[in-house]
Amino acid sequence: MVKKIILATIAALFFVLQLQVSDVSALELNESTRTIVLNDGGEKVTLSSEQVTEGQRIFNASCTKCHLQGKTKTNNNVSLSVGDLAGAEPPRDNLLALVDYLQHPTSYDGEDDLSEVHPNVSRPDLYPEIRNLTEDDVVSVAGYMLVAPKLDERWGGTIYF
Ligand code: HEC
Repeated sequence: MVKKIILATIAALFFVLQLQVSDVSALELNESTRTIVLNDGGEKVTLSSEQVTEGQRIFNASCTKCHLQGKTKTNNNVSLSVGDLAGAEPPRDNLLALVDYLQHPTSYDGEDDLSEVHPNVSRPDLYPEIRNLTEDDVVSVAGYMLVAPKLDERWGGTIYF
């Protein structure tokens, strides 16, 4: 009997903890958090919570090895902070520009084609790890990079090697 009560208490505790966790994420992913800049004209778009969650899953699976917390391993000057994205040529601080980068990555000054050195979906032969991403997936992961800085103040910035 005592054992049963203990088990029930543990189960109840887990339940309460889980509820708190899901409350927090619901709070963080409110509509304004999910609303990001769509294009270089400054129009806005609101992603669904599912898109953000899926984008985060893909980012964690395929990008964090070089871009943990939005930083860039080997090139601190080209982080995923909104400021660095905005400074690129053409600016990348909007959804469509990031989708374009994941299809045709270019150097920060826009001069050089990086499709043979940075993962992108146009070269499934070179980047089999992201070969199965659909267009929707690319939109989700691009969108996640614009939502993430609102969720994590450490997003972007410097890595000390
Ligand atoms: C092997 C390491 C590596 C992987 C994996 C990688 N990146 Fe990168 N990424 C870099 C480097 C290095 C740069 C800087 C390139 C340059 O010098 O312009 C960069 C640049 C970028 C930029 C441009 C940032 C800016 O400020 O202009 C974006 C956007 C980006 N990566 C997104 C992604 C996404 C999304 C993924 C996962 C699908 C990914 N990267 C996977 C290494 C990587």
